[in-house]
Amino acid sequence: MMKQPSFSSLLNAHIAGLEEYPPIQPLEVLSARLNIAVDALVKLDANENPYGPVPAVTEALAAYPHYHIYPDPQHHELRDALAAFTGVASENILASHGADELLDYLSRIFLSLGDAIVNAPPTFGMYSFDARLQGAEVIDIPRRDNYQVDVQGIEQAVAARGGDGRSRGERGRGGQSQGGPGLVKLVFLSSPNNPSGNWMDDDELSRLLRLPVMVVLDEAYVEFAEHPSRAPWVAEHDNLIVLRTFSKAAGIAGLRLGYGIFPAWLMPALWKYKQPYNVNVAAAVAGIAALQHAGQIAAIVDTLKGERARLYEVLRDCSFLRPVEGSQANFVLCQVQGIPAHGLKLALEKRGVLVRHYAKPGLHNCIRVSVGKPEHTAALARELQHIGLDDIKAT
Ligand SMILES: Cc1ncc(COP(=O)(O)O)c(C=O)c1O
Repeated sequence: MMKQPSFSSLLNAHIAGLEEYPPIQPLEVLSARLNIAVDALVKLDANENPYGPVPAVTEALAAYPHYHIYPDPQHHELRDALAAFTGVASENILASHGADELLDYLSRIFLSLGDAIVNAPPTFGMYSFDARLQGAEVIDIPRRDNYQVDVQGIEQAVAARGGDGRSRGERGRGGQSQGGPGLVKLVFLSSPNNPSGNWMDDDELSRLLRLPVMVVLDEAYVEFAEHPSRAPWVAEHDNLIVLRTFSKAAGIAGLRLGYGIFPAWLMPALWKYKQPYNVNVAAAVAGIAALQHAGQIAAIVDTLKGERARLYEVLRDCSFLRPVEGSQANFVLCQVQGIPAHGLKLALEKRGVLVRHYAKPGLHNCIRVSVGKPEHTAALARELQHIGLDDIKAT
């Protein structure tokens, strides 16, 4: 028999060694596996909004008459509504298929093989994932014990890679490093940070903005914080990008809608780069309706913030959990003490309560619990009380 050619050798070499981004199991699959009805599952594992969209969103989706027509590639109506909501000019806003799409675009328009990003783990996994897809190097500057960003460590990492303020032209073609270690082009920061929930202070952000790199500030959870968004800062800083999403506060994660606020000089590159129909009509209709009812969403966010305090108390009162205090997001990170966090996750899962488990540097033996409805917190409290060490050992 003729030997089959090895088509896999045609793949970009760096793709073969990449780890897959760990997928969340869909509700229906979990329901079948656990033999628990979908509606009985308590889903506290992906920081979704358990209240879902406000009624006006579902009404607008049902009433929209033009689903057979392609979307507006420039999202005029949505961007105008976002401009009114954020106070930023619509010329500086780009809408997207979730914030994830913009993370991908940014990696693709800035990074080539041999470039570098700075990542501040523990944090959202897509920053390093997208950079590695481009063959870029990920320089991890771990957060401090209280999860605050190590600003000095980032400054040193950028300087060590020739981030000395020289212009791109002086550095060579496209600003890419020639030969030696890769030039740091992007620093990814999430505030509030996922999964620790802490906020990054103004003076720390200001210091990082003095570096000769692009600072990508991911504000996916900013609506849940006691601090204002940094979207207005973009007008003052040519190297700041702020990303936001409708997946969390607005409760439409399934529709995939995000947006970014970018300095004016970057917009032409993004317009050239983006897929024409990256935001589908349903997402745009839902997003506009959500923005028209922002007050109702703010009221749901307030309810969730109240529930976050109750959830923290439930977790704090559990003998084997040490929750991180003061989350500014819609989740609480917990150190699990004396028992394996993975065993705890599985024991809760068997009882229909889903939480996220971590076992990576800076998150050893941790779980993250999203804020749910009061009945979800009650179910979690009940199951935590009933879980015995034997349950966890048996998993
Ligand atoms: C910090 C952070 N950024 C971005 C996202 C992705 O947002 P989207 O659903 O808009 O793609 C998430 C989702 O969990 C997140 O935690």
